Amino acid sequence: MAPPDPWLDLTAAAWGEIPGRPLRFYLHVPYCTHRCDYCDFTTYTPDDPRGRGQAQWLPGVRTELALAARVLPAALAGPVHSIFIGGGTPTLLAPETLGVAIADIADRWGLMADCEITVEANPETITPSLAAGLLAAGVTRVSVGMQSAVPAVLGALGRRHRPSTMVTAIECLRRAGLQRLSVDLIYGADGESLAQWQVSVQAALDLGVGHISAYGLIVEPGTALAARVARGVTRPPDDEDLAIKYELADAAFEAAGLRWYEIANWARPGEQCAHNSGYWRADTWWGVGPGAHSHLGGVRWWNRTNPHAWQVGLADVRGDRREARWPVAGWELLSAEQRALEQAMCTVRLRRPWPVLGNGRLRAALVAEGLVVPVGVHHASLTRRGRLLADHVVHRTLDAAGECWMTPASAS
Ligand SMILES: C[S@@+](CC[C@H](N)C(=O)[O-])C[C@H]1O[C@@H](n2cnc3c(N)ncnc32)[C@H](O)[C@@H]1O
Ligand code: SF4
Repeated sequence: MAPPDPWLDLTAAAWGEIPGRPLRFYLHVPYCTHRCDYCDFTTYTPDDPRGRGQAQWLPGVRTELALAARVLPAALAGPVHSIFIGGGTPTLLAPETLGVAIADIADRWGLMADCEITVEANPETITPSLAAGLLAAGVTRVSVGMQSAVPAVLGALGRRHRPSTMVTAIECLRRAGLQRLSVDLIYGADGESLAQWQVSVQAALDLGVGHISAYGLIVEPGTALAARVARGVTRPPDDEDLAIKYELADAAFEAAGLRWYEIANWARPGEQCAHNSGYWRADTWWGVGPGAHSHLGGVRWWNRTNPHAWQVGLADVRGDRREARWPVAGWELLSAEQRALEQAMCTVRLRRPWPVLGNGRLRAALVAEGLVVPVGVHHASLTRRGRLLADHVVHRTLDAAGECWMTPASAS
């Protein structure tokens, strides 16, 4: 079928580059019962008319999957390597609804035998029947938003669950038979002491999960947190405090057998998130749903964030008219320089050794400053201190190399 839109013409320009790259799907569920103070993700609450169209999510997703099947090149015929259902709060939808979307992807492209299917969940939404439903839907991995184990810190972040809810949630998931579990933590909220952070780190480890993500709090513009910081009633995260908390968490996770494999992610061997690893390698993924982002061979596009506008765009596409509005809000074709910089930014954040190109003295300098450990003759990997200064290392490397193309080393 001829691409009926400039966006697709542009996408077609990149098709030559993608044969053999794994195909992944991201499904975005843009609904939450309330918005946490720090969060600027595409999500809507029931007090907003845009948050009331949950019944329309699945039909829209199925239409977008049909669109993907029409426009993806034959080289991306599947099978699919991973699916990630994120939000928002995907577990506000019935697991059967998520199961229909997963089955639709499986019917169209097939799934690899070891296809990783992750669902993000808020602890307070997890019940025995939800957990059983997720397993029946084909979900293989659940990522739960813990954030903290200290009531005062949860309050400072605008979270509504209690620490005990997290323990019950993990028990429910395990009893249902879901074994690949991850938790998200946030550190650096105003008033969070080092001792409180230590409590959260230990509580996450006590859950016995095989994967932990820990994020330094970011004050995103437009959030309730940003407004409080602007009024001077809340202090923004402090760089020194963030660094100390990172080091504390890293030491505790590593001692417990969870090794860092990306700056903010630790896993037991074999429990790394395949889907996110694909993002960091700039694989091909189609992001389905309001506000979802996609990437295909150096072309990126992003969907309309308003669920209604996304649905209207999809309805137009069904008509197959060249002037159709599409669910897409914008796209860009990355230049060679942008791709090199982005690739470098991602590759350096991984534990997997990356080549320090262009200048033998640079690697020696980075080693002497304690920022990287040398691997082989030309490769390196960040030290703990280097991980705190990763962007600095990327820019030093790019500056020294002039034009630096980084490709992951074959060793891992
Ligand atoms: C999109 S959220 C979805 C997870 C789920 N809705 C939840 O909150 O439990 C994914 C993760 O991003 C992290 N996150 C979101 N906003 C953040 C911010 N401003 N600073 C640091 N981490 C953030 C949180 O750890 C969160 O669990
Ligand atoms: S952090 Fe999670 S629960 Fe909170 S508003 Fe964002 S997506 Fe919703």
